Amino acid sequence: MKRIFSGIQPSGGFTLGNYLGAIKNWVALQKDFECIYCIVDLHAITMFQKPDELRANSRLGAATLIAAGIDHKKHKIMLQSMVPAHAQLAWVFNCVARVGWMNRMTQFKDKAGKDRDSASLGLYAYPSLMAADILVYKATHVPVGEDQKQHLELTRDIAQKFNHDYGLDFFPLTEPLIFGEATRVMSLRDGSKKMSKSDPSDFSRINLTDSAEQIADKIRKAKTDPHAVPDAPPASEEVRAQRPEAYNLMGIYAALADTTMAAVAKEHGGKQFSAFKNALTELAVAKLGPITSEMRRLEKDPGAVDAVLRDGSERCRAMADPILEEVYRIVGFLKP
Ligand code: TRP
Repeated sequence: MKRIFSGIQPSGGFTLGNYLGAIKNWVALQKDFECIYCIVDLHAITMFQKPDELRANSRLGAATLIAAGIDHKKHKIMLQSMVPAHAQLAWVFNCVARVGWMNRMTQFKDKAGKDRDSASLGLYAYPSLMAADILVYKATHVPVGEDQKQHLELTRDIAQKFNHDYGLDFFPLTEPLIFGEATRVMSLRDGSKKMSKSDPSDFSRINLTDSAEQIADKIRKAKTDPHAVPDAPPASEEVRAQRPEAYNLMGIYAALADTTMAAVAKEHGGKQFSAFKNALTELAVAKLGPITSEMRRLEKDPGAVDAVLRDGSERCRAMADPILEEVYRIVGFLKP
């Protein structure tokens, strides 16, 4: 059985970058895998969160997944804090993983910044909890962006050391499913920066809650250059870096249309950007409109969103608890 686990941070509004970079792929994977998609609120508090905002953002995250088309009855949308086995297995993994392994994690270095001593202990142990998220279901595949690859390698190291230390073949070595290059969505104002919900300019991003008018306005004002639409995909990173905004809009078009940059270049290459932007707006509104309106509907019905999370988490507990029980037996804890 091929089992997918992936997680998303409840960090506020989601952008087109989150959608094309992760969520859209998650939707597609439902066809071939048994999928568990997790709102990682335990990970969120590795940096301080205002409690009411965290609750709202967890709901928003779940609503986004439902609206984007995750079939929560067939698969699972769950909240990390509702399944205690994640944190329980993470403790065991804290005792398997080595301090030296954690010291190599680039995300910790980025997030902690210069003053590492003031980072939370949770931020340091973040990858160990992530390994527990995955392995508490013995997930075989994990779809993640390029930035999470190192954490996935650590997950394999933890599984391997656990198996070796206890002389068993208990945990699988999980395979990453790294999303392609075309799904790296950049800022609409600066093609060298990732599209991000924390960018001070709202014109840098398309939010999944934006209206059709806002989408049109943002695409119209998106930065381009005086040249026509490229007639081929960038041949190299150097070529891309010469016209980052132009290739970004092409990439967004290709991802939204489920096609390649080459196909977009063939159809739109040589056009003026004003014309291409009109086509992109039409496409973006057609693809995002149904998601946005479903999110608006769910926003007014938080009880329904909570019910999805409770149901998904309950079904996850039924899967995770027996695996955790087995781990507790393996490491030598007495049966309660
Ligand atoms: N660290 C991931 C991110 O920031 C989120 C995450 C938490 C995750 N647990 C996971 C992703 C398990 C994949 C599998 O994007």
